[in-house]
Amino acid sequence: MNPSADTLALASTEFDLTKVADGQQVTLKWRGKPLFVRNRTPAEIQKAVADDSASMKDPQKDADRVKPGKAQWLVLIGSCTHLGCVPTFGGGDYGGWFCPCHGSHYDTSGRIRKGPAPLNLAVPEYEFLSDTKVKIG
Ligand code: FES
Repeated sequence: MNPSADTLALASTEFDLTKVADGQQVTLKWRGKPLFVRNRTPAEIQKAVADDSASMKDPQKDADRVKPGKAQWLVLIGSCTHLGCVPTFGGGDYGGWFCPCHGSHYDTSGRIRKGPAPLNLAVPEYEFLSDTKVKIG
């Protein structure tokens, strides 16, 4: 059986990246969850890459969390991997996201660095349709 058009519409979404200024992020709703599309500054990327070999609960290189040649774009499910609160950007000890519910600190790659969350902020399946358009899901 083929999924209906309604189901497909829920499954994936297209997003115009020109809506996100440098150093800003937009929060979308996708499959009932917040989704962050962040346009990272060179400093955020450098910070993330510099920490690639730091000790982490859920080790992952920054390059494995973005698409090749598109390191400025970070797409994340905006749901804390502890108990699902929505972290805010710009807080915490690592310059990335901070979850106020129980104090999880994520870095500028969305990797968990401190606090009770067990895993990095999840990167959903997505692809670039052009330089300015992504399809998520
Ligand atoms: S839900 Fe984020 S730290 Fe608990």
